Amino acid sequence: MIMESRLEVLFTPAEFDRLPERNLSETVCVVFDVLRATSTMVTALANGATAILPVVDIPQALAVRQREPRVLLAGERDGLLIGGELTGSIAFDLGNSPREFTPEKVSGRTIAMTTTNGTRALRACASARTVVLGSFLNLGAVAGFIHKTEPVDLLLVCSGTFDQAAYEDVLAAGALCDLVWPKYKNVSDSALIARRLFRLEQQDILAAIALSRNGRRLLSRADLAEDVRFCVQRDIFKLNAEMATDGRVRTQDSSEKQS
Ligand code: MLT
Repeated sequence: MIMESRLEVLFTPAEFDRLPERNLSETVCVVFDVLRATSTMVTALANGATAILPVVDIPQALAVRQREPRVLLAGERDGLLIGGELTGSIAFDLGNSPREFTPEKVSGRTIAMTTTNGTRALRACASARTVVLGSFLNLGAVAGFIHKTEPVDLLLVCSGTFDQAAYEDVLAAGALCDLVWPKYKNVSDSALIARRLFRLEQQDILAAIALSRNGRRLLSRADLAEDVRFCVQRDIFKLNAEMATDGRVRTQDSSEKQS
């Protein structure tokens, strides 16, 4: 057990919006946006993207493209690819479906990305000692990183949906709590809630997520329904990804698709 170790989960955007007021200099943040931003970023990196640059809004993404013309633009508003009508000029290259981020499209490329909640949550953690991407797709690698580095302060940040908690993020945070539980002494009630929920639902995560607001929205659309099944896959990538001080998220280990 890590001495005086603390494990906490934030459920809502209102909580992560207040992170800039907290001293996170010794904190490791794991950010979850299971449907779909962090799942998509993990997939892009596993498929050879050089880096992901999360930005909070469309003008920031366009400014990156102006500075670095080879950068791909990705993201969503209302779940859909950002088109010229929202930018006033160009359409984004990619939306926010992990299945779009194929090796052919993303290998060797840097991607500036803006999504409704996920990229905001990542930016809110920017002052943390380390910021890590969390998803079901790479959960074992994230747990491995925590076992190896033994952070004294571990904060699991759920990105949520608009201004609310998202069930799928809480379940993934709970799954990570379950994997690292014995290491932590000072555990918040939010971590207890997340772990208990995960244990309750773990036999059928897809069915649980199908009940969530995001799950229902994606499953009701023929072109996006497969994203839900994709994002609940457990540990298909052995990949840990960290956001560096330049704001870019890069792979820390060599990625490997297991199935
Ligand atoms: C978000 O960042 O809010 C989500 O990833 C939305 C989505 O599923 O496209």
